[in-house]
Amino acid sequence: MIKVEHLVRKFGTSVAVNNISFEVKEGENLILLGTSGCGKTTTLRMINRLIEPDSGRIFLNGNDIREQQPEVLRRGIGYVLQNHGLFPHYTVAENIAIVPNLLKWDKSAIKKRSAELFEKLNLDESLSEKYPAALSGGQQQRVGVARSLMVNPPVLLMDEPFGALDNITRNAIRREFRELDELVKKTIVMVTHDVQEAFELGDRICLMDKGEVKQIGTPKELLFSPASVFVSEFFQEQRLQMELKSVLLEDIFPELKRVSAEDGFSGRSSKITAWDKMDQLLNDNSVDHGDHIDLEKLMAAFSVHKDKISAQK
Ligand SMILES: Nc1ncnc2c1ncn2[C@@H]1O[C@H](COP(=O)(O)OP(=O)(O)OP(=O)(O)O)[C@@H](O)[C@H]1O
Ligand SMILES: [Mg+2]
Repeated sequence: MIKVEHLVRKFGTSVAVNNISFEVKEGENLILLGTSGCGKTTTLRMINRLIEPDSGRIFLNGNDIREQQPEVLRRGIGYVLQNHGLFPHYTVAENIAIVPNLLKWDKSAIKKRSAELFEKLNLDESLSEKYPAALSGGQQQRVGVARSLMVNPPVLLMDEPFGALDNITRNAIRREFRELDELVKKTIVMVTHDVQEAFELGDRICLMDKGEVKQIGTPKELLFSPASVFVSEFFQEQRLQMELKSVLLEDIFPELKRVSAEDGFSGRSSKITAWDKMDQLLNDNSVDHGDHIDLEKLMAAFSVHKDKISAQK
């Protein structure tokens, strides 16, 4: 769906983006992850031609985007700006209606669509006549997401959509976001510098540093098969948590069976991650899940699984 080839973009003498290439498949969620200033926003904005590259090419559905009018191109690409990017002198309703108005939607269609999105994004109808400054950070970010979804574009570019939020709100919104049906089928390129966010939301992660791609792959590939010391060090701090999150219980069934031989392990809740299972075991021990897994067995099985993966390399 999106193909980026050898992008270079300089600002004066400094190179913001240095020979970046990646592809995003239809329906995929690719995360651009990296420290501040590594060129994430610049890369994202080249995809909708808000910034033009010095060299390199970008294809959308096989078509070179340079051959399309920027305005026309952007109608098919929703964009959620870093720090929500709502216009302060427009009401929420007016902010949301900008692109539909450009497309000459009639008033009732705009109202219907925005009501639908408000409901899905847990935004109260009464907010629509307010100005962005009167909204909380979380509400502003939801409105930013609603605005980008109004005309239902197949491609979505999201620049730190949860960036301005505290951790608790951020976790809650992230969960909703994962479950939002409007986003499931979309092809998304999302920027973040938050490792946990990248792992929870990304089908694949493009890890960047100083304008270059360090590795592209699934969360598991980056964790368990880092391409360089840089990649492995990047995840060091949160490694255990991330590893547990990237492994499903069903991935470690053989190991769980082995360590639970006597009790007769029965794998029921197989689609949850090892991390969620651990969370259940630590915080929710009132519930008997009937699978005879305890913390010790879980960690033992996980360790064996990890050794197995590293032995395969
Ligand atoms: N308009 C501009 N003029 C000059 N330099 C710029 C401009 N935009 C970006 N840069 C520089 O290019 C580099 C990459 O910037 P970019 O905004 O892409 O980083 P980022 O990865 O999005 O960072 P952050 O996580 O802080 O948002 C930085 O060194 C930045 O200072
Ligand atoms: Mg940025």
